[in-house]
Amino acid sequence: MRKKLTARPPLIYAGEAVSLKSALAQAGRGEAFVIQAGDCAETFAEFSPDRVKDLFKVILQMAVALTWSSGVPTVKIGRVAGQFAKPRSSPTEVVGDQVLEAYRGDMVNSALPTAEARRPDPENLLHAYDQSASTLNLLRAFARGGFADLASVHQWNREFVSASQEGQRYESVASGIDSALRFMKACGIDSRALHEVEVFSSHEALILDYEQALTRQDSMGGDVWYDCSTHMPWIGNRTKDPSGAHVEYLSGVANPVACKVDADTSVDQVLVLCERLNPSREEGRLTFISRMGKDRVLDHLPPLVSAVRDSEYPVLWTCDPMHGNTFKNDAGVKTRHFDDVFAEIAGYFDVHRGLGTWPGGIHIELTGENVTECLGGPDELTHEDLGSRYLTACDPRLNARQALDLAFRVAELLDDLRIRN
Ligand code: PEP
Ligand code: CO
Repeated sequence: MRKKLTARPPLIYAGEAVSLKSALAQAGRGEAFVIQAGDCAETFAEFSPDRVKDLFKVILQMAVALTWSSGVPTVKIGRVAGQFAKPRSSPTEVVGDQVLEAYRGDMVNSALPTAEARRPDPENLLHAYDQSASTLNLLRAFARGGFADLASVHQWNREFVSASQEGQRYESVASGIDSALRFMKACGIDSRALHEVEVFSSHEALILDYEQALTRQDSMGGDVWYDCSTHMPWIGNRTKDPSGAHVEYLSGVANPVACKVDADTSVDQVLVLCERLNPSREEGRLTFISRMGKDRVLDHLPPLVSAVRDSEYPVLWTCDPMHGNTFKNDAGVKTRHFDDVFAEIAGYFDVHRGLGTWPGGIHIELTGENVTECLGGPDELTHEDLGSRYLTACDPRLNARQALDLAFRVAELLDDLRIRN
């Protein structure tokens, strides 16, 4: 299987990874903001062009609100086209009276609750590759083919603003953008940037057989290697041991890379990760995605951010407000509350404001579909609502309206930051 994968073409080109690295370097300097978003786990069964389109649509909508308020470009990165492997807290799962091997993502086994389905199948690696290729093909077409036109994205946001009570709160942002678009049109300003965007892919680089088979030498020459399965591979919280295989692998490729950091991560560990993953102190190379939980971010994030700043490693800090705020409700359903998700982001902004550093972006599990997996948000979803469209293969995702509401709230935080500075 590894041989077959090695024979397949790269999914991304080195030049694209370099371009993302320079966008992330900008974000690291406070000159851009990052949105990284998508499913917790992509699946083979749920693949369709419409789903890819709907995910991209919500990312574009969020990006417009964020760009307006921050006054800097929004770097758009999907958790997509390769997000098929899941680290699990427990190696087994009890379903009815059976104890089954845990589901580890479609790249490894199937989520169906039978012993047979849970057996790992190497063919899944190829299937994951093929689906990733199709997904990237669609994303590139949507990004350049007119779908991402600013005026239509703004129109979708207008519909959200006028369709709900909650949306009304963002009327001033929407009318500000209306005026800006009118003004640009009147002046005859019409650049490509108003009709096309750049979008990048990312996933957790968990299954090293897959990543390694898609590792290619830079065709421009030199002893430089890229992980050509994605633009931005990241290291999950469970595999971030600085002397472990995942850190070793990512230290050897030239892509921009990220690493999750939880509230139990020490200053020493973070500094060793900086040295292992970015010894040459290249801007844009390393992003830390903090996922501490709303109650721990205020105490645990500041020592890490200030130690990294004092050591002069150029790091971009983004916030994953999902994984530290997950809980099982009384019915045993894994969920997250919209208010907790926002509270962690607000705490992350407070920390950075206090230290004079830049809150560089957000990392969100979401879908463009109308699912009911997270509580709260504009439709005030309740525990009872979770039963109606709980479709995720792994962790609960924000639906499109929750995601957009979150983006407008983050936009308020960015606006506030801009006004103070
Ligand atoms: C994830 O991003 O889906 C994930 C498993 O996160 P973490 O590694 O932070 O637990
Ligand atoms: Co997840």
